Amino acid sequence: MTVRRLGVLTGGGDCPGLNPVIRAVTRRAIQAGITVVGIRNGWKGLIQADTIPLTLESVSGILHRGGTILGTSRTNPYKKPEDAKRVMENIRKLQLDALIPIGGEDTLGVATKLKKDGQKVVGVPKTIDNDLSATDFTFGFDTAVNIAMEAIDRLHTTAESHHRIMVAEVMGRHAGWIATYAGIAGGADVILIPEEPIDLDAVCEIIRKRHARGKDFSIVVVAEGAQFKDKHLVTAEGKLDEFGHVRLGGIGDQLGKLIEQRTGYETRVTVLGHIQRGGSPTAFDRVLGTRFGIRAVELVLAGQFGTMVSLQGNKIVAVPLEEGTGALKTVDMELYNLSKIFFG
Ligand code: F6P
Repeated sequence: MTVRRLGVLTGGGDCPGLNPVIRAVTRRAIQAGITVVGIRNGWKGLIQADTIPLTLESVSGILHRGGTILGTSRTNPYKKPEDAKRVMENIRKLQLDALIPIGGEDTLGVATKLKKDGQKVVGVPKTIDNDLSATDFTFGFDTAVNIAMEAIDRLHTTAESHHRIMVAEVMGRHAGWIATYAGIAGGADVILIPEEPIDLDAVCEIIRKRHARGKDFSIVVVAEGAQFKDKHLVTAEGKLDEFGHVRLGGIGDQLGKLIEQRTGYETRVTVLGHIQRGGSPTAFDRVLGTRFGIRAVELVLAGQFGTMVSLQGNKIVAVPLEEGTGALKTVDMELYNLSKIFFG
C-alpha cells in the first residue's frame, strides 16, 4: 500500500531533540511525495482531530529549538473506550495511511496497542531518562547530562567557598542514567540512583571522611527516583498522571536535611527539574534525532510497520515496537560501580 498521508505526533514529557526529528520526518517524507500531518499535543490531538500541516516552511528554523512545535501531553487514549474509538475514527477521517508517534514508554505503549488494532505505525523512542530498552541512547539524554554537569560544576565553586554540602537532585524516574553520567562528568563525591537503595550512614561516612582529609565541602547527586533503604518513593504530591505515574521530587530536600542533622555540616539543596528538559539540544541529540526521523520515514516507505527505530552501536536499526516498551533499561552497574571509585 502506498502511503500518501503521514501523521506525526509527540507524546509524554518534552525533550531536546524532538524538533530535529519532526524536521527530518517532514523533509524526508515530502521528498518522497508524502503529505505530512502534524497532530497537536500527543494522543489528545488524535482524540480531538487537532492537526496542523507540516511543510518545508513550518519545519524551517526549528532544528536548534528545544521542546516540540507540535505540543505534547500525557494523554492515554486507551483509558476510556470512547477515546480509543475516536482515535480510530480520526485516523480514518484524516486519511492517515501511517503514523509516526515520537515518545517514551507510555506513548510507544499506546502505539503498540494501535499496532494490535491494525494501524500502521513506526515509533521513534524519546526520553531524557535514557531508560528505554532496545536503544543504546535516546535523544534528549545528552542535553540533560550536559546541563546537569554544568550545574554540578557551578555548585562546586559555591560549595567550596562556603564549606557546604550541596545536594543536586536530577531527573530519572526509574533509572539513574542522568545522575550517573552527570555525576561522573562533574566529579560528584556521592551519586545516588534508583537502582541502589540509599544507605544514609554510608553517605554521611563518605562526607565525614572527606572532611577528615581536609575537603570541607561535598557534592551529592541524587536521582529523583532514588529511595531510602526501608522507605517508599519520595513524591511531590499524591496525584497520578493518566498512565498511573506519581509526580516525583523531594528526595533531595529530605536527603539534605538528614545529612545536615547527622553530620552537622551546613547543607543546601538544588533541584534541577525541568531545566534539564528545556532549551537547545546538543549536537549529539540533533544528529540522533535527525537520523531517527529519516530512518522512521524510510521504514514507512519500506512498509516495515509495527517497528521503532533504535540506536545500536552507531547504526540506526528497526526493532519491533514491543521491544522498546518492554523491560526498562536500568543503569549499567559496572558503570555505576566505576563512579564509586571517586566517592569520598
Ligand atoms: O519521563 C521523563 C521525565 O522527565 C522524568 O524524569 C520526570 O519524572 C518526569 O518526566 C516529569 O514529568 P512532568 O514534566 O510531567 O512533571
